Amino acid sequence: MTRRILITSALPYVNGIKHLGNLVGSLLPADVHARFHRQIGSEVLFVCATDEHGTPTEIAAAQAGLDPRTFCDAQHARQADVYRRFGLSFDHFGRSSSPANHALTQHFYRRLDAAGLIDERLVPQVWSPADGRYLPDRYVLGTCPHCGDDGARGDQCESCGSLLDPADLIAPRSALSGDARLELRESRHLFLRQSALLDRLSDWLGTRAGWPPFVASLARSWLTADLKDRCITRDLAWGVPVPRPGFEDKVFYVWFDAPIAYIAATQDWAAAAPGRDWRAWWWGDAARETTYVQFLGKDNVPFHAVGFPATLIGSGEPWRTVDVIKGFHWLTHEGGKFSTSRGRGVFLDAALDALPADLWRWWLIANAPERADVDFQAARFVAEVNKDLADVFGNFAQRVTRFARTAFDGRVPEGGEPGEAERALAADVEQRVAAIRAHHAAREFRRAAAETRGLWARANAYVQEAAPWSALRTDRTRAASATRVALGLAELGATVAWSIVPDLAANVLRAVGATPGSGAPAWPHDVPGLILGGPRSGSRLPHSFEPVAKLGAGHLAIA
Ligand code: 2FM
Ligand code: ZN
Repeated sequence: MTRRILITSALPYVNGIKHLGNLVGSLLPADVHARFHRQIGSEVLFVCATDEHGTPTEIAAAQAGLDPRTFCDAQHARQADVYRRFGLSFDHFGRSSSPANHALTQHFYRRLDAAGLIDERLVPQVWSPADGRYLPDRYVLGTCPHCGDDGARGDQCESCGSLLDPADLIAPRSALSGDARLELRESRHLFLRQSALLDRLSDWLGTRAGWPPFVASLARSWLTADLKDRCITRDLAWGVPVPRPGFEDKVFYVWFDAPIAYIAATQDWAAAAPGRDWRAWWWGDAARETTYVQFLGKDNVPFHAVGFPATLIGSGEPWRTVDVIKGFHWLTHEGGKFSTSRGRGVFLDAALDALPADLWRWWLIANAPERADVDFQAARFVAEVNKDLADVFGNFAQRVTRFARTAFDGRVPEGGEPGEAERALAADVEQRVAAIRAHHAAREFRRAAAETRGLWARANAYVQEAAPWSALRTDRTRAASATRVALGLAELGATVAWSIVPDLAANVLRAVGATPGSGAPAWPHDVPGLILGGPRSGSRLPHSFEPVAKLGAGHLAIA
């Protein structure tokens, strides 16, 4: 039976090009997993979208002199282009501001309200007369009561890390105008009564399995007796309107509508072509065979392990909830935090201007912050990429394909029988390929990459020892069979690495005459056959392998 697997990546905020930390923390591993599942024949739906609502978008648009919609149109297009160049193979890359998401967000609100899970409460909010608007916590600046830093934000002091409330700040002022005449005004807001859902959420969490331990324990730590009710509205204009009398000037909180956009993006995907059914991925019995995996950074865990399930379960409707949350720790940059606001780190457009996507993809997956934070260091990046991709696999593929083309008249050589060494090799490689598959299936990305590296090294060692270039002078048949085995190894090494380095893999597959189509190369099911049997014996090798360029010190400049 074909497995059906729904994969979502946390939605990147629409404003601005993301950095390597965002890529490795959700988008890239989600892509690798989607590609792997396509290779093993699963029915895959991989959706993502830009997360477009909220104050930062509204303010960035105003600063750019644009209305939020026009601003988001341009930002969405920029991001979609960068992700395409990174090889992210979304089935749909949508937008949280789509009409489908507006309708669905309002639908969930109505269901939750009808279930008695919505309360109206008065909330004191900072009002800035000079700006003519309410200021969210982070747009109030002042002096930190703990360390005296003058640039503390109303939600947190970046200097000493204390969590703050705007009322804690000494000499508060507006981050927008700098004006200090701030007032507290009471504003009416809607709360989702998560506390009333605590038992159902805890029961639900107890039925989930296969989460990384740190994600499971983070999730459990949120589901305690003091689970807070959640304010799901904001005093803003840009967002999903709240269909309730008295709330005409408010919208839903961006964290309420953003995860709903996973579903709405699926609806938009389904609407784009006949024969697609969004319910098969999300709804009741139709989605019974679907496994749903979410990819996200650790700061997103509470919203996905508590907030979104509360929306889905509270609706009383048979929505598909997440089966596995694959969370990630942080990627840091040369010992410090990546920071979009401070322009610190490697941003994705600059990364692609400097180097092919596969180099980034390989290093990030091989070093994914799965169990702890990982530091990106340019020097380490260059050394590791050079070793794995240029010295080990690239060099192997180039030597073998070039030799086959020149020594055997541009064809996969025929004749000769594999011997004892090849049979031992085939058994070893079969185990390695099974291990790579198991690591991918378990979403253990570093292990999958390490095992792939091990396979490449084994292939290199084989050809080094068999040395068909030396054998050619004395025993052409022996040289032919060793070259054929080596071509099989190159094909295998490329096929199992395709989910991580799709361009490099396609390049190798073309050079060994495997002519990959536009889709995923099928996961090898007969490894010994591929190595010992010599597929395509006698067939032409019309494409040469484009070697993987070795990086020099000059490439350090971008990082
Ligand atoms: O943290 C972030 O970057 C958010 N934009 C993630 C949203 S994920 C989802 F819930 F939509
Ligand atoms: Zn401080």
